[in-house]
Amino acid sequence: MNSSNMELKLFFVVWMVSTAEQAEVIIAQGRIRGEMHQGYVSYNGIPYASGNDTTGRFKQAGIPPTWSGMRESQQPRCGLTSRVNDCLQLDVHVPTSGASWPVLVWVKGGGGRYSPGKLVQQGIVVVVVSHRIGPLGFLCLGEEKMPGNVGVKDVVMALRWVRDNIPAFRGNPYKVVVAGQGFGAAMVEALLLSPMTGDLFHGAIMQSGSVLCPWAFNHDAKDRGLSLLQMLIENDETMTLLNAGAEELAVNADKINFPYLPFGICIEKGFKNEERMLPESPYRLLSNKLARKVPLIMGYNTDEAYIFLSALRENNIRKKMARDLSVLLPEELKFLNVNELKTVAKQIKELYFKNNSTMAALLAYHRDAYFLAHIHRSARLHAASDLPVYYYQFSYAGQPGVVADHQLRKAGAAHSDELAYLFPETTSSMEGTDGTVQDNILRLWTNFVKHLNPTPSEASPRWDPLDSAEPRVLDIGAELTMQPFPYTRACRMWDDIYERFYYSRNYLGL
Ligand SMILES: *[C@@H]1O[C@H](CO)[C@@H](O)[C@H](O)[C@H]1NC(C)=O
Ligand SMILES: *[C@@H]1O[C@H](CO)[C@@H](O)[C@H](O)[C@H]1NC(C)=O
Ligand SMILES: *[C@@H]1O[C@H](CO)[C@@H](O)[C@H](O)[C@H]1NC(C)=O
Repeated sequence: MNSSNMELKLFFVVWMVSTAEQAEVIIAQGRIRGEMHQGYVSYNGIPYASGNDTTGRFKQAGIPPTWSGMRESQQPRCGLTSRVNDCLQLDVHVPTSGASWPVLVWVKGGGGRYSPGKLVQQGIVVVVVSHRIGPLGFLCLGEEKMPGNVGVKDVVMALRWVRDNIPAFRGNPYKVVVAGQGFGAAMVEALLLSPMTGDLFHGAIMQSGSVLCPWAFNHDAKDRGLSLLQMLIENDETMTLLNAGAEELAVNADKINFPYLPFGICIEKGFKNEERMLPESPYRLLSNKLARKVPLIMGYNTDEAYIFLSALRENNIRKKMARDLSVLLPEELKFLNVNELKTVAKQIKELYFKNNSTMAALLAYHRDAYFLAHIHRSARLHAASDLPVYYYQFSYAGQPGVVADHQLRKAGAAHSDELAYLFPETTSSMEGTDGTVQDNILRLWTNFVKHLNPTPSEASPRWDPLDSAEPRVLDIGAELTMQPFPYTRACRMWDDIYERFYYSRNYLGL
């Protein structure tokens, strides 16, 4: 940036602070008024694209709308039954003064509130992106009206909006890191594999999720879509997916008997007038080193499956598995005969349930089968491309986060626990060790946004990038320590199971 440019920006900032309590920004779409908070301004509910609730509800969105007069900041309203345009909105949070801030684009995993105050106070811009979710975002029928993945395409539209508009909010479009957690992390990985994203971002963070996880990607997406259609038709002969109410879609999708999310990311066919987000299987793209080569932070929590505790209890899963262990196996595995299934069930029994039928063993099993094995496979595949993969495990079980069960304490951090430190409801400091952990994770994450390196200075310990031959993680516990990856044996077993009964059987092999 040349100096006159800088002066202009500084002038603009000074003007903004001195004229009013309300900050205002002008972009090509119109004028927006922000809400002042302590140390930052929030511009909520800015439309980044537009969709059509009838013809276009399952299609890629179009160019953003314009408006005249002042648009007031408004709380995001996107949910499972929202209109399309309520989901095509983002929130921009900016430090009160200063310019050219690095940008963190946070991709929502589903619902959930993300209070950005602590992150913004570290000197970055935070953009929180809503997008279509559930059937509206992820129905994939492989036909022109429902090509699939539009929820991820929404995020691409948002990233294009950021590239074009973030300078007006004093953000730097050449320093953009995209991040998400859970299904949001799987969406971020899809962005890394997509021909649609060009150089829209320069680093990525994937927390507790990968597009390789059984709940993230569907090789049988079309069958799932057709099941939903079938349910609608049973209620009303003339009903189609296109004219079903959003609520009707959500309610019926919920009834479909798939474990976890019924609709996820899919491989798309090519259509005229529709960009293709994902042309091939994620595993194949990753194995062929076709992922975007940008620095990554990725990792998992040590007790991810703790959030399934009550569901596992209610379903009496321990009784069922005592009769037949195969009830536990991810349903995407394909066995050709009973012997294959028995062999795998035996392997799993050896590793997790030998003389151990405790709930803790069951949680360890679910952690690996649904999160860890796949995140670990993904991390090694990314690292094979010679880009830095900063690999972590979050193991701290503090006061914030998922409420602990009174019968079974957390054996570490539950799925989503780290969000309580990154996006706390208030910006006041946490106490004791909780506060130390929060300072650590905020510093590492925002350093990455600023420098694409979480430990740029002589920090101790230095967070070394992943070496696939000898995987180590940064353990984020009460302290920070580099440790050998602790679950090698289990992940090796899962790699073997997936190689034999998934990748080589679902047209996903190499
Ligand atoms: C949606 O598309 C239909 C058909 O092209 C059109 O009649 C309708 O006006 C559009 N709705 C909006 C809100 O643009
Ligand atoms: C498993 O439990 C059985 C019966 O309680 C016991 O005899 C055996 O030694 C145990 N095996 C291991 C490996 O702990
Ligand atoms: C059972 O497995 C869990 C999870 O791996 C472990 O924490 C626990 O110590 C094991 N219990 C016994 C009795 O081996």
